[in-house]
Amino acid sequence: MRRLLLLEKAHIEEIDRYDIYRREGGYTSVEKALKSMSPQEVVEEVKKSGLRGRGGAGFPTGLKWSFLDKKSGRPRYLVCNADESEPGTFKDRYLMEKLPHLLIEGLIVSSYALEANRAFIYVRGEFKWIIKILERAIEEARTAGWLGKNILGSGFDLDIVVHPGAGAYICGEETALLESLEGKRGLPRVKPPFPAVVGLYGMPTVVNNVETLAAVPWIVLNGGDAYASIGIGKSTGTKLISACGNIKKPGVYEVELGLSVEEFLYSDEWCGGMEGEYGLKAIVPGGSSVPILPAHLALKTASGQPRLLSYESMADGGFETGSMLGSGGFIVYDEAQCIVRNTYNFARFYHHESCGQCSPCREGTGWLERLLHKIEEGHGTLHDIDLLWDVQKKIEGNTICPLGDAAAWPVASALRHFRQEFEAHVHQPQQCLFRRRASFVFANASVEIA
Ligand SMILES: Cc1cc2nc3c(=O)[nH]c(=O)nc-3n(C[C@H](O)[C@H](O)[C@H](O)COP(=O)(O)O)c2cc1C
Ligand code: SF4
Repeated sequence: MRRLLLLEKAHIEEIDRYDIYRREGGYTSVEKALKSMSPQEVVEEVKKSGLRGRGGAGFPTGLKWSFLDKKSGRPRYLVCNADESEPGTFKDRYLMEKLPHLLIEGLIVSSYALEANRAFIYVRGEFKWIIKILERAIEEARTAGWLGKNILGSGFDLDIVVHPGAGAYICGEETALLESLEGKRGLPRVKPPFPAVVGLYGMPTVVNNVETLAAVPWIVLNGGDAYASIGIGKSTGTKLISACGNIKKPGVYEVELGLSVEEFLYSDEWCGGMEGEYGLKAIVPGGSSVPILPAHLALKTASGQPRLLSYESMADGGFETGSMLGSGGFIVYDEAQCIVRNTYNFARFYHHESCGQCSPCREGTGWLERLLHKIEEGHGTLHDIDLLWDVQKKIEGNTICPLGDAAAWPVASALRHFRQEFEAHVHQPQQCLFRRRASFVFANASVEIA
């Protein structure tokens, strides 16, 4: 049975308007939390739920919340990360567009749990229409008494500020985001200290993804145990997956964690199978930053188990034969797609988006782009392929923030699983089938194929 915890009401006409959202039971989690629960009780329910951050890393949300420094008495902040600039990932914008009040509800109960009186939504600047939707919804919530001073007579105050970014992918990294929010250039900070201790304006701060915060109202209303009973193992609850590429039905889907990749890909309920005449070649299961999986490893793990949409199953086999669930950006490639071209496209993106603070990333991403371009254009040598491997290896793990790893992993996995395709570009560049096809553009690629 398909269970929807986030998108259940997304189909209701004008659900983005306050009156309709409230009529459908919206904001009841705020009533429950503020009238009958202490902040710590809300934190405990989220801990029990096993909810893991939906921004990519999958860190347990309740645990992150419990690190927040409440003892020092300094102001605390909650920041919602709505930057969503990862190629292949387009779920948060859908959620904000359809259900802005769900995010606001999530922000209110989460801020209450964290005892934070100011929350921020750092939203990708290109989402101009979403910014308008959010601002209107916040105004509606304020007018209806869900924001402002002494909400529901509880003594709890909260206001929400929407802050548009200025078009940098790196500002999705939480510490770069905080710098940007403070009005500075978006450069990632060296950690520790972590934002839970020294965050926005030097104050204790929690940064959470849109989808993470939108899951909190359901947990408060139904209890952490009920949430934990959905999903599989330590991958509890549901996850939004944005599916794109060579499939019949691209879109944003809410799946119960534990659904098999095979069912998700081929069932009419989800992606509807491959579009066109070609079979499955590979899948990038969690946004452009995670390792690519060739068809056989995308559908089954190396030990022959069905590959599932869960944090553990996706990682099964480590990077040798596995990948990551990441942000849930599910990119599907058919047999006619060129892996070298795709890897080059990603490398261009990461080189363009590197903030330049650390040399392995600043210089290395440029090397990756140039080498891949050379190979893709048919001027590469076998030595260039080895050099490509060396360069990505020198970036991984040697940088301030994970953008360096994110640039290295797609290259490493493409070489690991599709080396013969790179060699074919050296020996017979004119054979690349991709050149005979229309360009393959990701639903969210910031850099499109020229
Ligand atoms: C380069 C880069 C870009 C990122 N972009 C986003 C983003 O757009 N949205 C997001 O929620 N997390 C993004 N993250 C992850 C955040 O740093 C952070 O882990 C996340 O917002 C925490 O929220 P969560 O615990 O709810 O997942 C990015 C990380 C990196 C390294
Ligand atoms: S890894 Fe790249 S993006 Fe991250 S701080 Fe270093 S140079 Fe900047």
